[in-house]
Amino acid sequence: MPYFETTAGRVFAVVQGEGPPVVLLHGFPLTHRMWREQMVPLSANHQLIVPDFPGFGQTPLVKDSLSIDDYAIVTSALLDVIAPQQPVHVVGLSMGGYIAMGMLRQAADRIRSLALLNTKREADTPEAAQKRLAMVDKLLVEGSRVAAEAMMPMVMAPDVNEDRPALFDFVRDLMISQAARGLAVAQRAMASRPDSTDLLARCSVPVLVVAGSEDKITPPQGMAEMARDIPGSHFVTIADSGHLSPLEKPVAVNEALISHFQRNP
Ligand code: MLT
Repeated sequence: MPYFETTAGRVFAVVQGEGPPVVLLHGFPLTHRMWREQMVPLSANHQLIVPDFPGFGQTPLVKDSLSIDDYAIVTSALLDVIAPQQPVHVVGLSMGGYIAMGMLRQAADRIRSLALLNTKREADTPEAAQKRLAMVDKLLVEGSRVAAEAMMPMVMAPDVNEDRPALFDFVRDLMISQAARGLAVAQRAMASRPDSTDLLARCSVPVLVVAGSEDKITPPQGMAEMARDIPGSHFVTIADSGHLSPLEKPVAVNEALISHFQRNP
């Protein structure tokens, strides 16, 4: 089984392909499996490293309290084992984007390039943080179904919910199968994450920003503003996609990522 012993604990990750390393960081409340449509195309020319964060999927939760920067430390520790001393293309969706920003804060010299998909640079407002903490209380009593019920109506474009039942069921089942404790720890971490606006404005690594045109969670306008403020960044909008573009519109997302890797070999 693909478990790796790191200085930050035991981490499950799928590793596939050969070439410059690429790490794919999943969103909430998902796992490495949200990248299933990227595995074959992106591993043709790269070593893909696709972990589950602590408390998600198959990676154990070692502590009951983690910050977003702690998840970044775990990711860097995994890279130290799998791709030591090598600069890495870091790709993060939503919560994975917050963790990618944590890696930028901690070890920018490890990052060959950054791709931020459907994410936010701002910290939570007090109201948003409060909403997360209310979800934590419910999660710990009622289980992971609470997160699935809150997110499924808005996580993908409306046509997916109506016309693509297999994809809808895949995402819902993935959410429901997560351990509520891991989700609660992640919600608390997201509620207290730092603002990364200045960090990104000062960023000297090449950045790709990808937005879903129909994303209700991280709307494309905010993504465009983020891209505008990152020196030299590329901005791509994925047409007819909600928040989970890598699953909803994999061909367009794969094209955007492959072009980004080619521009930044
Ligand atoms: C995600 O997709 O990772 C979440 O929407 C992130 C968040 O709750 O801020």
